[in-house]
Amino acid sequence: MDYQFSRHRRLRSSVNLRAMVRENHLHLEDLIYPLFIAEGNDYKKEISSMPGVFQVSLDKLQAEMDEVVSLGIKSVLLFGIPHEKDECGQGAYHDHGIVQKATRLIKEHYPEVIVIADTCLCEYTSHGHCGVIENGKVLNDPSLKLLADTAVSQARAGADIIAPSNMMDGFVAAIRAGLDEAGFHDTPIMSYAVKYASSFYGPFREAAESTPQFGDRKTYQMDPANRMEAFREAESDVLEGADFLIVKPGLPYLDIVRDVKNNFQLPVVIYNVSGEYSMVKAAAQNGWIDERNIVMEMLTGMKRAGADLIITYHAKDAARWLKEQ
Ligand code: PBG
Repeated sequence: MDYQFSRHRRLRSSVNLRAMVRENHLHLEDLIYPLFIAEGNDYKKEISSMPGVFQVSLDKLQAEMDEVVSLGIKSVLLFGIPHEKDECGQGAYHDHGIVQKATRLIKEHYPEVIVIADTCLCEYTSHGHCGVIENGKVLNDPSLKLLADTAVSQARAGADIIAPSNMMDGFVAAIRAGLDEAGFHDTPIMSYAVKYASSFYGPFREAAESTPQFGDRKTYQMDPANRMEAFREAESDVLEGADFLIVKPGLPYLDIVRDVKNNFQLPVVIYNVSGEYSMVKAAAQNGWIDERNIVMEMLTGMKRAGADLIITYHAKDAARWLKEQ
């Protein structure tokens, strides 16, 4: 009976005491809200698998941004849904592409909001792959030039951060060189350094109309079973000049977030992806879970895992709940 056990409950006895010893906090500044901008006018369509998330046309973007800004969200991530797609994804690097137009509009009306442009081709290519296709294969090196052109045209439109999600080898180096050459030395790259070939992107592909028309993305996105490969991917992006490292998806990869946080000295961003959002929404709509508590627990868990920033479709709700706390 002489075992002296620990009284862990001492520090849990009241709301205020628990708040004093709380180790991780979610802040408004942590949240990045993704937006889907569609070509056309007077258009706002809810994505059926992502309740509360919409494709909006440019004229409806203003109202969306008013809400985002009034909630205190500091940063948005832009995805474009072009009218026309082609083999080479020209809509991605056209100065009048949809993301470029949306960027100009946002920077004109909300200059302080940080605009992050997703740099990929899959929303703009007729085949839905993230690079150039030849004989049914996604070619690496010829895709790099198009990605660099995309980044430069996004920077020219006023994007504050370039976020390449395509997973071609060498994309950070190619984009850094392209940006520097065009005079955008100070435009940071938020690299999707560690991006798995995940089924959790399903609802996004409906939202962004970017489902591959043949095959899958397994020759360029990573095998979910791999951990060492995440180190190799992150390391090469650091060497090529990335300024932030994204790990994606979020929830099933919190171990990888911790690995990246512990082993690299750049800000770590977690992408709480579409499928993760849809699962929570579906369960909440069925009354099976408490949405607010579940979302705040998930986002706080991502911070605890080591994420500095969180890209999430829950951002508007989370911002509201943070204010109420
Ligand atoms: C484009 C891209 C994807 C996502 C972000 N950028 C889809 C994909 O790689 O198929 C997914 C985001 C989400 O599921 O929320 N390459």
